Amino acid sequence: MSLLQNEHPWGTGIPHIDDIEKICWQMLHEGATNRKSAMHQAVIGTSVDSIAYMRTVVLRRVDIDTRKIYLHTDKRSKKMQDLEQTMHMSWLVYDQSLRTQIRCSGAIIIHHMDDLCKEQWDHTGHHSRRYYMTDQPPSTELDQTSTGLNEALTAFDYTLEESEAGFQHFVVVETIIDWMEWYYTHSKGNRRARFTYNENDLSGSSWLMP
Ligand SMILES: Cc1cc2nc3c(=O)[nH]c(=O)nc-3n(C[C@H](O)[C@H](O)[C@H](O)COP(=O)(O)O)c2cc1C
Repeated sequence: MSLLQNEHPWGTGIPHIDDIEKICWQMLHEGATNRKSAMHQAVIGTSVDSIAYMRTVVLRRVDIDTRKIYLHTDKRSKKMQDLEQTMHMSWLVYDQSLRTQIRCSGAIIIHHMDDLCKEQWDHTGHHSRRYYMTDQPPSTELDQTSTGLNEALTAFDYTLEESEAGFQHFVVVETIIDWMEWYYTHSKGNRRARFTYNENDLSGSSWLMP
């Protein structure tokens, strides 16, 4: 999805708030399914002891009907310690070509060794599996700069069967979105809207002063 200078994602005229909410979910879905989308990468935020921690992740899956979004990570990572404390996460995506920022947040479910985790792992390519196969967990201090991969992992010299060793460290984190905010920048003026959800249903929509 890319728009020319004066085209808006809602078409012509005044945007309808319901359309904006649908467009946001379409953009997120496109982000998950199209590697070339700027929204394929997202920033996620966790909070521990009143300090925010942010990092980039790949937006792996978006279920529009249930308002759920997913990432893959290593169970041994620092972010998992944060998430296990709060069971809550915030997301941010921005696509300059669409002039659109989407922020959203919600409670999480951690999938480890369950059916969903297995399904996502089965779709995880040979190349992407190797960091889950390392003995040293993420954030281990190293004596010198290194990729942390041994020779075999560096050369992708492992079988699909051997890569299954990484499954024990592979986690899928599901966020059940409870609010979402859209911010659109334009030379004629910015626009902003907020949406709230209750269970799977849209429970509130409002335009906000940008
Ligand atoms: C483009 C890009 C994509 C990334 N995707 C992921 C990802 O999908 N999952 C992940 O755990 N880390 C990903 N990372 C690494 C994280 O940003 C982060 O540095 C790492 O996971 C350690 O974070 P933590 O110490 O808070 O756990 C990515 C980094 C970049 C630059």
